[in-house]
Amino acid sequence: MVYVACGSDPETTPGQTPDGGAGDGGGNPPPGSDAGKPVGPTSTAEQSVKVFPQGLASGDPRPDRVILWTRVEPGGVGKGPNDDVDVEYVVARDEALTDVVARGTAKALASGDHTLRLVPTGLEPNRRYHYRFEVQGTTTLVGRTKTAPDPSADVPVKYAMCACQDMIGRYWHSWQALLDEKLDLDFVLFLGDYIYESVNDERFQSGGTERSIKLPNGIDTSPKQDKSRIAAGTLADYRTVYKEYRKDPLLREVHRLYPFIVTWDDHEFADDCWQDHSTSFDELDPVTKGFTDEKNTARRASANRAFFEFQPIDAVYKPNVGFPFDIKIYRTLRWGKHVELFMTDQRMYRADHLIPEGPADLSVGKFSDNSSIGSRYFVRKSGFDPKEASFKPSLLGKEQKEWFLDAVKKSNATWKVWGNEVQVYEMALELGKLPGIPAAINYTVYVNVDQWDGFRTERTEILDALSKAGVQNLLVCTGDIHSFYAAELHVDFSKPTAKPIGVEYVTAGISSASLKALMEKFVAPDSPLRPVIDAWTNGADQALKDTNPHLKYADTNAYGFALVAIDAAKAEVQFVEVGDPTKATYTGVTARHKFVTDVGTHKVRVL
Ligand SMILES: [Fe+2]
Repeated sequence: MVYVACGSDPETTPGQTPDGGAGDGGGNPPPGSDAGKPVGPTSTAEQSVKVFPQGLASGDPRPDRVILWTRVEPGGVGKGPNDDVDVEYVVARDEALTDVVARGTAKALASGDHTLRLVPTGLEPNRRYHYRFEVQGTTTLVGRTKTAPDPSADVPVKYAMCACQDMIGRYWHSWQALLDEKLDLDFVLFLGDYIYESVNDERFQSGGTERSIKLPNGIDTSPKQDKSRIAAGTLADYRTVYKEYRKDPLLREVHRLYPFIVTWDDHEFADDCWQDHSTSFDELDPVTKGFTDEKNTARRASANRAFFEFQPIDAVYKPNVGFPFDIKIYRTLRWGKHVELFMTDQRMYRADHLIPEGPADLSVGKFSDNSSIGSRYFVRKSGFDPKEASFKPSLLGKEQKEWFLDAVKKSNATWKVWGNEVQVYEMALELGKLPGIPAAINYTVYVNVDQWDGFRTERTEILDALSKAGVQNLLVCTGDIHSFYAAELHVDFSKPTAKPIGVEYVTAGISSASLKALMEKFVAPDSPLRPVIDAWTNGADQALKDTNPHLKYADTNAYGFALVAIDAAKAEVQFVEVGDPTKATYTGVTARHKFVTDVGTHKVRVL
């Protein structure tokens, strides 16, 4: 028997699963109703897009259920923005939709921006299902999804690993490349920065009109308040960004074919955010020109709500409960005998960056006030380490950390896959290893302490606890930094052991400016650190590997995604590169780099 929980209104569907006490979003049918009735023809893509401009999607598969999603454009069916819309749905075992397992009607509510989530349960494990939505005779295309295998099933797992898909002035060649592979993936693992809240930040976004977004409200995040940087600030803004991203035909098609497993990173709310704080102004009050605290709880709540409305994620969302208890997205998903996924949230509970963005501080290489350089990027190690050891900032927060350690330790899956937002492995850089570095800056920095390098004590605590518990085959999958890396993990990176305690593979962005491109923009021409940027092109990847012996592969100037294939014996990872995303023309896959981690080794083998 198949039961379907449905609804589009977060106010009435907090858990989004029948077992979680989800309310009736309207029009729930009795289980299995109309299952034998034939379905009508499927609309063409041109017809469909007028009513369902964001297509359809599925996510967070379990052995007996998967979340199905769509959104209706009310104007496409003669309705106003405040009207609810009745949506028919059908879920079947076959693509022709003749072997129906669930069918009925649900309401896409105006209060949820006409998004709709369905959770058919009682499905068979490790099975493909097909589904479709319909309003007044116009249908979506037929979507395809797949349930997870039973935890005891000895089956291989194959997924794509992706992150960082800035749309502004950028083309999604990565999605074209993935579609061209025509793979039978189990899921797409998306590790954050699915959207970017800023729509014209010239520091990393390209101009032009073809790939642009106009926000209904928008807030000016420029320190000069000169409208040079506009970002989402309201619920209407964040909804607009999701809607515009999902209109892209390539992204729609990937969602149509594969279930997604998603976590967020910073840009689902604000750049380098922590809790309900952004860092857009680097603590410069744009009006008083004094130091400021960039806290905005209402903005965070809007970002959370839009994320929940538009992602088919099995999250707990309680909008009537205040921040930070309104949404909980950390969770585990099991995929047969060999894979358990641990999806963490590294933004909602983390401490502030240890080095304030406001005042200059030469002890950490922070040469000027109100700057991310020296507070988050290129932070001098000798000044940072004692401060970190004293304050011990947390990235996961106490409750999530305890949950994570407990869940990983007790997992009996062959591979423990950590869906991780920001890089775990230590990425120090001895600047003197770059060519032409003057003596004044010949010291060691952490490239980015917004990632785990900024939370060194907690990282050690976690890796040490997992190591002491005998956890085997920890495979960390990471996004955020717009580069491809493959690294081995140690409890103490300065004292590597013969056998590492796990491995980490980091995927480049789908389209977002590469780390190299970002650093060129972020370090001002008159900064004392400018020689680092000038030397970056020819020396960064080698200097990173020379500084960090645990780093086995580095490419800081790349775009693409990774393919991961896991079985009882090994985890195979392939980095798939595409060309410049600021160019409209797709030139195919430009490079592939392959790696293997054999079971029990915790090592990166470069093929
Ligand atoms: Fe990103």
